[in-house]
Amino acid sequence: MEPAIRLCGITVRYGNGDGGLVAVADVDLDVMPGEVVSIVGKSGCGKTTLLKVIAGLVKPVRGELVLNGHKANTPHRGVGMLFQSPLLLPWRTVIKNILLPIEVLNGDVRSYLSRAYELIEKVGLKGFENSYPWELSGGMQQRVALCRALIHKPSTLLLDEPFSALDAITREEMWGLLQEIIEYERCTTVLVTHDVREAVLLSDRVVVISGRPGRVRSEVRVDFRRPRGLDIQYTKEFNDYVAMIKSLIGD
Ligand SMILES: Nc1ncnc2c1ncn2[C@@H]1O[C@H](COP(=O)(O)OP(=O)(O)OP(=O)(O)O)[C@@H](O)[C@H]1O
Ligand SMILES: [Mg+2]
Repeated sequence: MEPAIRLCGITVRYGNGDGGLVAVADVDLDVMPGEVVSIVGKSGCGKTTLLKVIAGLVKPVRGELVLNGHKANTPHRGVGMLFQSPLLLPWRTVIKNILLPIEVLNGDVRSYLSRAYELIEKVGLKGFENSYPWELSGGMQQRVALCRALIHKPSTLLLDEPFSALDAITREEMWGLLQEIIEYERCTTVLVTHDVREAVLLSDRVVVISGRPGRVRSEVRVDFRRPRGLDIQYTKEFNDYVAMIKSLIGD
């Protein structure tokens, strides 16, 4: 099977000359279709940069991005992105925020309405279609942002610390929801997180990046079947994975 995402010798440099900075160097990474991969590492090691490379938003100075066997070097529609803050437009209702990418892509908004309602129901926001973002809690806003990321049916979901601004209980709820959504949408997923427990709970594989420049230090395969119940966090195997990955980050 061909990888959905292949990063091949990726090196990214910001700026030129003495003021320039190599953010990531020689990164090789394959993500298989439907796989969930987390990227962890210390602040500034280049995690967001790698997501931007996958989205085609940052051009590497060396190396290439291959998506489903095809070279990609410009922004493309195959990804949906979710960030730390929901970044919703306050003057637009929930449904209009979710449909925004279709408008931006000059798509036929009406033909995506049923998809939008389906996603709203899936994330548990039925009845809030016509609410404004400021009428919703932080967790609800992040659910809206997740629907917006998925509205155009991307094959890949890119998540950059999506739950770090939420309280612990809401975050755990979102772990359950995200697993349901990933299974339902069958999307390939790359998650950047500082939370090692989150990485172990959600992913098939955890990639540890060292800095700086960011390089792949090691990869840990997490051998639990997906979807995973939250109770798994209290098992010895789970905590062994967490301890091992923390020590790989901390070295
Ligand atoms: N647009 C940019 N221009 C110049 N330098 C940048 C730019 N974006 C990131 N950098 C630098 O590249 C390095 C990697 O940044 P990046 O945002 O990828 O790190 P990160 O691992 O996501 O960090 P964090 O965990 O704090 O979000 C940092 O040193 C940062 O200052
Ligand atoms: Mg970042």
